[in-house]
Amino acid sequence: MREVMDLEVFATAEEAGARVADLAAQQVENFPRSVLGLATGSTPIPIYEGIVRHVRAGRITLAQVTTFNLDEYVGLGPDDPHSFAFYMRQHLFGPLALNPAQTFMPPNQGPDLKTRAPSYDRLIEGRGGIDWQLLGIGRNGHIGFNEPGTPFDSETHIAALSDSTRRANAPWFDNDWDRVPRQAVTMGLATIMRSRAIVLAAFGEDKADALAQAFRGPLTPEVPASVLRSHPSVVVIADRAAARLLAPSRGAYPV
Ligand code: PGA
Repeated sequence: MREVMDLEVFATAEEAGARVADLAAQQVENFPRSVLGLATGSTPIPIYEGIVRHVRAGRITLAQVTTFNLDEYVGLGPDDPHSFAFYMRQHLFGPLALNPAQTFMPPNQGPDLKTRAPSYDRLIEGRGGIDWQLLGIGRNGHIGFNEPGTPFDSETHIAALSDSTRRANAPWFDNDWDRVPRQAVTMGLATIMRSRAIVLAAFGEDKADALAQAFRGPLTPEVPASVLRSHPSVVVIADRAAARLLAPSRGAYPV
């Protein structure tokens, strides 16, 4: 087990986000039919801006990729502005005019959701598995919506969101954390770990503790991101504030 993943630290979230966008572009340039695992939240915004820039500059096209999002709130339709489906159309799929048939979100509505949720893993496997997975990290060490205590062998499932996560996501709901849904469907930790390559992005001071616990503390379901230390291909891209408690191992250190 490695003490810390490949780590690259940048002065600002914008620079770090541009680096992640470069890595995504490299993946798609080398393998135009890549299956990409995508994330939502504030972290991917500069990343998706960078990807859109690469496409507009003609460096890459996403015309042949397939995408699978990590998670989605239970019960929100795709036209609900709080849904991650809406977010993805706003930040990436819309600007790039991706064919909706290329883009998948976890099932999040309708009856029998609990039994239907794991079918997402089969859908992913049917497309050959995820080649390149983008992750953020929660202040409590979650990845996707796998909250502390989620078993490492979990597949896509319905997750109850912790108060900490609901408070962190309140800014998307007019700062009213009561309005943040209580459940989401999320890829499980086993689903994420089956990805061939993983890039975890962490920006801002309030991610420093979670990063340190994940990559310096014990390997434990209490810190879901710690599972990544047993994955063979993980790169952590952080800004200086988020990496404050981690000593760089290798990579670019332009700070
Ligand atoms: P954020 O969320 O990018 O909005 O900070 C990350 C996460 O909770 O995984």
